[in-house]
Amino acid sequence: MLQHLKNDLFLRACRRQTVSRTPIWIMRQAGRYLPAYQAVRSKVDFQTLYKTPTLAAEVTMQPVEILGFDAAILFSDILVIPEAMGLKLEFTEGKGPRFPQPLRSAEDVARLHVPKIENELGYVLEAIHLTNRRLDGAVPLIGFCGSPWTLATYMVEGGGSKEFVHIKSLMFQQPQLLHLLLEKVTAALVDYLNAQIRAGVHAVQIFDSWGYVLSPDDYEEFSLRYMHRLIASVKREGVPIIYFLRGHGCGLEKLAASAEVLSLDWTIDLALARQQTNGRVAVQGNLDPTALLATPEIVRQQAKKILNKMAGASGHIFNLGHGILPNTPVENVQALIAAVKEYGSVD
Ligand code: CP3
Repeated sequence: MLQHLKNDLFLRACRRQTVSRTPIWIMRQAGRYLPAYQAVRSKVDFQTLYKTPTLAAEVTMQPVEILGFDAAILFSDILVIPEAMGLKLEFTEGKGPRFPQPLRSAEDVARLHVPKIENELGYVLEAIHLTNRRLDGAVPLIGFCGSPWTLATYMVEGGGSKEFVHIKSLMFQQPQLLHLLLEKVTAALVDYLNAQIRAGVHAVQIFDSWGYVLSPDDYEEFSLRYMHRLIASVKREGVPIIYFLRGHGCGLEKLAASAEVLSLDWTIDLALARQQTNGRVAVQGNLDPTALLATPEIVRQQAKKILNKMAGASGHIFNLGHGILPNTPVENVQALIAAVKEYGSVD
């Protein structure tokens, strides 16, 4: 697979092999900050966009072709799994995702089914095929999914949340029911990631976006355990897995036990993370997306700061600590990419 890639910097960095410079891609790189994305989105809603393989492939290509990132990430959403498991999903303009009938009882959990990926999520696999055909080996394609805990959180809360009262109440009052839900979601995710890999993604990122709301002990029991199980069950000959988290979760060395790459946010010092994990994993990150609202000069300085910290070290993939903000000026993204390509040379 590696041989036919024209730019394999990202995959080499994931494997901590030597690279001529630090690779860069950013989370939500196909998104609303990009006029070309807005043009497509003005004609269709978000769900139609990710469920139509030709359109999903088109917007996946945009940031690679227009801005020159070193990897493409499949255009989709983590919530397609709960949707395929039988939960009605809505995206309301400006409000984000919502499950109008969230899970609240044992009957609700029992009703969920483990989807047949080829049938119910065939549109994702088709988008992978189409995107790889269009990429023609220019850069690798990253697939992804949400973590079991993060998906369960959305399914029980019904949407985003500040206090996480429903999922945490389930955890404290009916832990066995929550484990049942996490097991079902994990089973669906194993099939989903294996199907993405068979369809041709070169790496996979698992988003544990809500893991940081748990205490270290609860994190281990309700998130980490299922992450390890998921990663261990994925048949992935040479396909690196990136573990995305916000905040500390629990000790980084525990997280590094199964994935090849840790994607970290700006609250964690990348050089320290490397030390704590004894260089056993590559690290990805970790510019605060808000920095991209400043001037191109400030963006360059901020990028340089991170690159200097990691200078000479293999196994760093430049990224943001979380998704790019919709009102980010494109010229600042261009400045960021140029800075990484200029200062990220490893000699
Ligand atoms: O990174 C990429 O470019 C790949 C595509 C991708 C999207 N969502 C597209 C998207 C990925 C990897 C995701 C992951 C995702 N989705 C996460 C985990 C990462 C994180 O942000 O913590 C979560 C929690 C979701 C759920 C989700 N989807 C939310 C909270 C929202 C609303 C956010 C917003 O900014 O409106 C979405 C919608 C969404 N997912 C958009 C995109 C491009 C915006 C859609 C639009 O209106 O055009």
